[in-house]
Amino acid sequence: MAGRFISFEGIDGSGKSTQARMLADALRADGHAVTLTREPGGSTGAEEIRRLVLEGDPERWSPETEILLFTAARRDHLEKTIRPALARGEIVITDRFADSTRIYQGITRGDLRSMVDALHDLMIGVEPDLTILIDIDPAIGLSRARARAGTELRFEDMGLATQVAMRAGFHALAQGNARFRLIDGARAPDAVAKDVRSAVHV
Ligand code: ADP
Ligand code: TYD
Repeated sequence: MAGRFISFEGIDGSGKSTQARMLADALRADGHAVTLTREPGGSTGAEEIRRLVLEGDPERWSPETEILLFTAARRDHLEKTIRPALARGEIVITDRFADSTRIYQGITRGDLRSMVDALHDLMIGVEPDLTILIDIDPAIGLSRARARAGTELRFEDMGLATQVAMRAGFHALAQGNARFRLIDGARAPDAVAKDVRSAVHV
């Protein structure tokens, strides 16, 4: 794959979507070709799966079924959107990728990390070149996420303790992994964006 593959990760309401958009704008202003995308979703089929996993009762799916649904969405996203854009030499920025499954499905409802990793190896097999982890106090993240209107609240509805566990999980994942940059999200959007832009060496 010729281009560069960048993911944004973090708990709900950390500011990933805002920062992914700002980075895409900054890189385009510098003359780069950018594909900005998101998970779950980012392709027609994956956006259909998105509705199944983000709306409705928090207990709607078992953790195992959820792993399959998110991985199915990711496979379609990879085939239809990410790989073609990288092959064109573009910078691909995705709002969430496989680390979200490692945390949301891997640790919050029992220890399913090995199942997540096995399925990832079998069906996805790629990691981003760079992962920006936006760090935020979970109480701030949840209040931001809930202030946003919408119906995609299955994971926010799992509550504060879950968000606290996920923040710790993201920290553990980033620890000692050269792919990650940890950025403090509890500042004004422009200040966060400045740090994000300097983490991307293009
Ligand atoms: P995420 O994609 O991580 O859930 P969003 O970028 O959608 O986060 O941001 C969640 C909410 O918080 C949005 O309403 C957004 O406008 C707001 N927001 C984003 N970044 C900041 C920031 N740095 N400070 C205050 N509010 C923010
Ligand atoms: P997103 O739209 O990024 O939500 P937010 O803006 O609130 O951060 O993602 C939707 C939800 O999907 C989010 O709560 C995290 C969850 N999710 C998983 O549980 N597993 C995954 O693999 C992905 C990509 C997302």
